[in-house]
Amino acid sequence: MTKIMKITFISLFPEYYKEFKSHSIIMNALSKNLIELETINLRDFSNNNQVDDTVYGGGPGMLLMIEPIVKAIKFSKTKDSHIVLVGPRGKTLNQNKVKSMINIKHLILICGHYEGIDSRIKYYIDEEISIGEYILTGGEIASMVIADSIIRLLPGIIKKESHQEESFENNGLLEYDQFTRPIEFDGHKVPKVLLNGNHKNIEKYRRQNSIDKTIEIEIEKKGN
Ligand SMILES: C[S@@+](CC[C@H](N)C(=O)[O-])C[C@H]1O[C@@H](n2cnc3c(N)ncnc32)[C@H](O)[C@@H]1O
Repeated sequence: MTKIMKITFISLFPEYYKEFKSHSIIMNALSKNLIELETINLRDFSNNNQVDDTVYGGGPGMLLMIEPIVKAIKFSKTKDSHIVLVGPRGKTLNQNKVKSMINIKHLILICGHYEGIDSRIKYYIDEEISIGEYILTGGEIASMVIADSIIRLLPGIIKKESHQEESFENNGLLEYDQFTRPIEFDGHKVPKVLLNGNHKNIEKYRRQNSIDKTIEIEIEKKGN
């Protein structure tokens, strides 16, 4: 099969990605050659093994230096590359953003660490993406979130029907409740409507359940 997307992770800790590549859908996509995942160790592009330094103007912590990162970008970049800084100051990822990224041929995800990256990185990237309004130790987990959410939407990875009913796909509704065996667990029963094979009623129930769940979560969000 032809490769659909290559993703390059530029990171100080490439070991993070070993497990990511070794399980489930991502592993299958790799074995079918539908995707290529490349990890680049930032330290390989440093002078004297140094990748971070103190912050001009003072302040706590260390900052990743610009030079090794730019060298790593130049090493991996092609004419098809889209370069993303993974960071909390970027636009927050959502399903629409994920969908807009599925045609990228080569995605480069740059992971910060410590206090982040020298701000001159902005001259070398296409955009910055955050995965939410909280602070992680480093960009590695965030980069895997971004990569995973894109990979599962690529053609040939999972069945198209599996996406269609998922949360955020159906007019932004959340997915309906689902159950598997046993019919009763610890006194909690599967709704009867799902057991009688009446597809019209099942569809009606699921639609209503989707709407109820979405409203419930929206109300909760407003309360926070
Ligand atoms: C400790 S954070 C740096 C936070 C930075 N000093 C700030 O206040 O904006 C280190 C790295 O983790 C990653 N990171 C942290 N939170 C993130 C988020 N919400 N989304 C994406 N990446 C994040 C970024 O790559 C960042 O450079």
